[in-house]
Amino acid sequence: MSERFECDWLALREPADAAARDRTLAARARDGLAARPKPLRIADLGAGSGANPRFLAPYLPGPQHWRLVDHDPQLLNRAASRVVGVRDADGTPIRFEACRLDLSDPSAAITDDTDLATASALLDLVSDAWMHALAGRCAEVGCAALWTMTIDGDWHFTGPDGDRIQDGDDAAILSLYQAHQARDKGLGRALGGAAPKSLRAAFADHGFNIAEAPSPWRLLPGQRQPLALALVDGWRDALLEQAPEEARRIEAWWRNRRAGIQAGRLGIEVGHVDMFAEPSP
Ligand SMILES: C[S@@+](CC[C@H](N)C(=O)[O-])C[C@H]1O[C@@H](n2cnc3c(N)ncnc32)[C@H](O)[C@@H]1O
Repeated sequence: MSERFECDWLALREPADAAARDRTLAARARDGLAARPKPLRIADLGAGSGANPRFLAPYLPGPQHWRLVDHDPQLLNRAASRVVGVRDADGTPIRFEACRLDLSDPSAAITDDTDLATASALLDLVSDAWMHALAGRCAEVGCAALWTMTIDGDWHFTGPDGDRIQDGDDAAILSLYQAHQARDKGLGRALGGAAPKSLRAAFADHGFNIAEAPSPWRLLPGQRQPLALALVDGWRDALLEQAPEEARRIEAWWRNRRAGIQAGRLGIEVGHVDMFAEPSP
C-alpha cells in the first residue's frame, strides 16, 4: 500500500513543524556544510508541498540547489509554487528541481553529487531495511544528513500546563494506533515509533557522527485547534481500520476526547526526534 498525504494536512502541520524543529541541529548542518564547494546539492526525500526547504534553506549557506523528491505529482506542483522566492542564508533565491520518483530505492533519490540528504516527517513510514539502505547510500556518496520530525511513537493529551492526561482507555487506544503505524506504507513494514532507534543504529553502523534532539509538537489546550482536531480525526480513522470490531469503543473515545479539544480543555503532545548525521572525516 502506498501512502497519500493531503495538501490540507501538510499545510496544517507546517507551522507546528516549524515551531517544533530543533534549531541547534539546523545550525550544525550549516556549520558542517560551510566548507563544501558551492552550490550545495540538497536532496529532500518525501518533499510533499515543500515545507522542508521553506524552513531549512534560510539556515544554510548558498547558493543551494534542491532536488525535491516525491511520488505525488500534485504535491510536487504545489512545492514548486511554494519554494519560489525562498532564499538561502546569504539572501540568494534557491534553485530547485521537482523529481517525481518512488523512494523504494534511496539511491535514485540521492545522486552522487549530493552534499546534504534531508527529509521531514518521512522516516516513520519506512522499514528497517530501507533505513539501512538509506544510511549506506549516504555513506557511499559522503553526504551529511538531516532527518527531522521523525515520530517517536508517543502521543498523549495534556492539560493547561502541558501535564500528561492519559487514562487506561487512552493507553489502550495508543497501542492500537501503534499497530496501525507499523503497517506497510509502500516502503516495507513501517517502523512507526521505532524509527528514531533504527535511524540511529543505521547511521552509526555506517560511521556517521550523530547528534539528536527532541522536536515534539506541544499543542496546548486552545492552541492550533484545527491541527489537534485533524489529529484525533485521523487517529479515529486509523483505529477503525485497524480494529473495526472495536468501533463502538473507538467512537466513544474519539467523541469524548474531541469534545475536550473543542472546549479548550485538552491539548495534545506528539513526540518527534530530529537528527543530524555527519560522515566521519
Ligand atoms: C508526511 S508527508 C511529509 C511531507 C513534507 N516533507 C513535509 O514535511 O510537509 C510524507 C511525504 O512522503 C511522500 N512519500 C511517501 N511514500 C513515498 C514513496 N514511496 N515515494 C516517494 N514519496 C513518498 C508523500 O507523498 C508525502 O509527500
